[in-house]
Amino acid sequence: MKLYICEICGDAYIGEEKPTDCPFCGAKGNFIKLASEAKPIIEEKTPISELSKKNLMETLALETRANAIYLCMAGKAQEYKIQKMYKRLAKVELEHAVIATKLLGIAMPEIKVENCADTNEENFQKTIELEDHATEIYKKFASEASEDNIRKLFGALMQVEAGHIELIKNL
Ligand SMILES: [Fe+2]
Ligand SMILES: [Fe+2]
Repeated sequence: MKLYICEICGDAYIGEEKPTDCPFCGAKGNFIKLASEAKPIIEEKTPISELSKKNLMETLALETRANAIYLCMAGKAQEYKIQKMYKRLAKVELEHAVIATKLLGIAMPEIKVENCADTNEENFQKTIELEDHATEIYKKFASEASEDNIRKLFGALMQVEAGHIELIKNL
């Protein structure tokens, strides 16, 4: 068994092989390194610009909201696999929120309950809208980041959220 660390969320993974994507934050496999070689972005103690702080605050708001919406959708889903999918999406988005709090050095805010539709069709549509918006905004945040670690984070998140759109479209 080997120990790997995801450079985006900083979580460790134990396994024979490196996973193709981080099981916690969903980052692509190229961000997962052997523990001895990993340089997690949250460990970089370089100061963060005001613009990146603002963008991280927006990330925190967006991700906590996505978490609450996906939990609602998990509760509404009739099919077991759809319930499970939304529970996983909720956890991944919460992990993204946690990364933002760590970089900002703040506590996790209280997450407000969100509403969602009763049918899969409407919820899938809403999911694609949310993920599309997230992908676009992270692309912008990545281009605005002057810090290497923040640019790396937004680049990775952009890929994760784009992957979620693919997941829904494949259903
Ligand atoms: Fe990760
Ligand atoms: Fe996310």
